[in-house]
Amino acid sequence: MLGAMSGEGELRIRGITKEDYDYVVSVLDRWWGGPAGQRAHPMFFYELGTDALVAEEDGKVVGFLLGFVASQAEAIGYVHLVGIDPHHRRRGVGQRLYERFEARCRKAGVRRLKAIAAVGNDGSVAFHEALGFLAEEVSDYAGPGRSRMVFTRDLTGTH
Ligand SMILES: CC(C)(COP(=O)(O)OP(=O)(O)OC[C@H]1O[C@@H](n2cnc3c(N)ncnc32)[C@H](O)[C@@H]1OP(=O)(O)O)[C@@H](O)C(=O)NCCC(=O)NCCS
Repeated sequence: MLGAMSGEGELRIRGITKEDYDYVVSVLDRWWGGPAGQRAHPMFFYELGTDALVAEEDGKVVGFLLGFVASQAEAIGYVHLVGIDPHHRRRGVGQRLYERFEARCRKAGVRRLKAIAAVGNDGSVAFHEALGFLAEEVSDYAGPGRSRMVFTRDLTGTH
């Protein structure tokens, strides 16, 4: 279990605000190391914001998680996008965000968590596997010839 500290200060996980969202949009390309601005679609703030989280350390946003609970026959907690400031990686920030999201999902009766990533995003695969997700490459997931890594984690029977 990783500790509550990211770096120098104490880490706080809280709901996203418009100011946070604006900041995330401004740093996304840098944090991803390439064009990524489109991924933080505004609907994740305006329409789905209650499950969107940020990690803050000493008043600075060092990570975020944009997710939501999809109420299908089986409720799923879906993580659309997670990103951590490159200067704050491998310090447990991503794990803390997922733990908070998972807790919110459990309260909402969610039985399965799901996330996806581009094929070849080995860091994301290693991260999700470390958090207990099963990783599977699914052909044509995002349309013809567009495979994705699909991560799932069953919440039934685990605490
Ligand atoms: C993937 C990402 C969210 C991980 O966040 P993080 O805060 O650095 O992850 P954590 O510190 O919580 O890592 C928890 C565990 O996951 C594994 N892990 C995380 N990143 C890893 C990497 N790049 N390579 C190998 N293992 C990794 C490790 O086992 C780690 O534990 P350890 O550091 O004690 O060994 C972060 O690297 C990131 O923002 N990447 C760019 C955006 C991205 O690819 N997002 C995911 C797809 S949407």
